[in-house]
Amino acid sequence: MEMILYSKIIARSVLLPAAVVLCVTTAARAEGPSSAEDGRQLYNKHCKQCHKLTEQLLVGPGLAGITKRRTEEWMDKWIASPKAVMASKDPVAEELRSGFKTLMPTLPAMADSQSRKLIIDFLKENDAENK
Ligand code: HEC
Repeated sequence: MEMILYSKIIARSVLLPAAVVLCVTTAARAEGPSSAEDGRQLYNKHCKQCHKLTEQLLVGPGLAGITKRRTEEWMDKWIASPKAVMASKDPVAEELRSGFKTLMPTLPAMADSQSRKLIIDFLKENDAENK
């Protein structure tokens, strides 16, 4: 009798928190990309082949300090369409044009503003870590 009571208490104290954790993580996933980890994944998938997170040049400039050099608004526009920013005679774009032979491609996946935001947040975090 006592044994049964004991195992019931254990079952409650272990299973209930486990179930709550499961529900919370599932709910977070259902909301779609939202964390810095998602930003990192997007960065690895779409940007890493051309940009390092240090100051080192690859195909494009190293992105260390980028969130201090450029405004969030500029980065958002640029990531969505480098071509459009170039065409607008933006002074920063003009400066980049003279420094780089290749033009950053307009990436179809970056038409999504939420993805751009996640990447920018990730870059901010990278700059905060490497102050
Ligand atoms: C195929 C290579 C390539 C890919 C992929 C690429 N870029 Fe670029 N990026 C460049 C180049 C080259 C430049 C320099 C400007 C130019 O010539 O277009 C640049 C410039 C930039 C700049 C401006 C840097 C500065 O100093 O002002 C930012 C910000 C940037 N890229 C972010 C990104 C992000 C974020 C991604 C992924 C979503 C990405 N890039 C993907 C090649 C690339």
